[in-house]
Amino acid sequence: MKEKILVTGGAGYIGSHTVVELQNAGYEVIVIDNLSNSNAGVIDGIERITGIRPVFEKLDCNDKEGLTALLEKNKGIKGIIHFAASKAVGESVQKPLLYYRNNLVSLINLLELMPEHGVENIVFSSSCTVYGQPDILPVDENAPIKPALSPYGNTKQINEEIIRDAVYANPAVKSIILRYFNPIGAHPSVEIGELPNGVPQNLIPFLTQTAIGIREQLSVFGSDYDTTDGSCIRDYINVVDLAKAHVIAVERMLRKKSDKDVEIFNLGTGRGLSVLELIHTFEKATGVKVNYKIVGRREGDIEKVWANPDYANNVLGWKSKETVEDTLLSAWKWQLKLREKGIM
Ligand code: NAD
Ligand code: WQD
Repeated sequence: MKEKILVTGGAGYIGSHTVVELQNAGYEVIVIDNLSNSNAGVIDGIERITGIRPVFEKLDCNDKEGLTALLEKNKGIKGIIHFAASKAVGESVQKPLLYYRNNLVSLINLLELMPEHGVENIVFSSSCTVYGQPDILPVDENAPIKPALSPYGNTKQINEEIIRDAVYANPAVKSIILRYFNPIGAHPSVEIGELPNGVPQNLIPFLTQTAIGIREQLSVFGSDYDTTDGSCIRDYINVVDLAKAHVIAVERMLRKKSDKDVEIFNLGTGRGLSVLELIHTFEKATGVKVNYKIVGRREGDIEKVWANPDYANNVLGWKSKETVEDTLLSAWKWQLKLREKGIM
């Protein structure tokens, strides 16, 4: 019998790539998603890649009764990977209560229901945003948590605290918290990828949309940062590599490989790239020129952050593999596919 894993937000960007890797690793996956930032067609893409259609239910994680019914119907779930959240930093400043409700209540519902339904393990999607601007780079998991710069960032910090407190009070529940750096790229099959809503706020979808002509020009935010070329530095991590870390985290919990109740891992490459370096790498990898212009700083941006991934490499046994060139090429192929399908 296959072991069952519940993936919340499994129709989303990182969730869908993780469902593929879970199915490839032999797990039975149940996906729930309210489709607030995705569409059900993603499930078809997952099926085309793996040959397996995951169970899918359109369900909101804030709907506790619905979650209860789902757990009753699908008994024996071994673990949950909780991706479902609202994630737009700017929107969270405009609509903080929506973000606090969606991102906090969802997690609280799951943590309340887990012991009642014998579910012991939860993997949680956190973010390098919890570090703010780190004092020491590369940043490791012991770095202090800095005051959040947005309600979104604050929800991730509070989520981590909620997990720590809930697990302390109920040691039958264990958790692995994964702090992602900047996930980019698409599945090599080009069946699934990132589907930004409206004008993208993140660099890569804006860049690929500019390269294909949907946007006229990419603005590079800032040229006077204390970095090699004055633009900000980030750690861009391939989304399939990232997805694979979730399978390893699930295995670690199910096989009880750790004696800790809560573990935290950075998921990054360990390499920082500036915005300008990234644009030039994209141009080289794809042969496509990007029309960009250097403009002023974007409010709230961190100057530079990249991961020390040693703990994930040595303890989790995970390491990012894909090159940034191949990753950017996958993002470009995905953009071309969206055009071909008439999506954008
Ligand atoms: P995404 O928006 O593509 O995926 C999230 C999915 O959750 C969407 O399909 C959305 O419809 C769904 N969802 C939202 N609220 C829900 C709810 N209440 N009930 C059910 N479904 C709900 O985002 P993503 O980039 O795949 O991010 C996944 C997780 O990783 C999020 O928790 C996000 O905060 C976190 N994260 C993302 C990044 C990033 O840069 N993409 C970085 C760090 C952390
Ligand atoms: C990357 C770099 C921009 C757009 C955000 C969230 C963070 C995390 C990941 C979830 C920055 C520059 C961008 C553009 C640009 N998400 N840029 N022109 O800001 O590192 O992180 O997504 O947890 O919480 O804050 O990602 O992709 O927006 O920006 O120059 O049009 O690209 O200034 O240096 P960021 P990003």
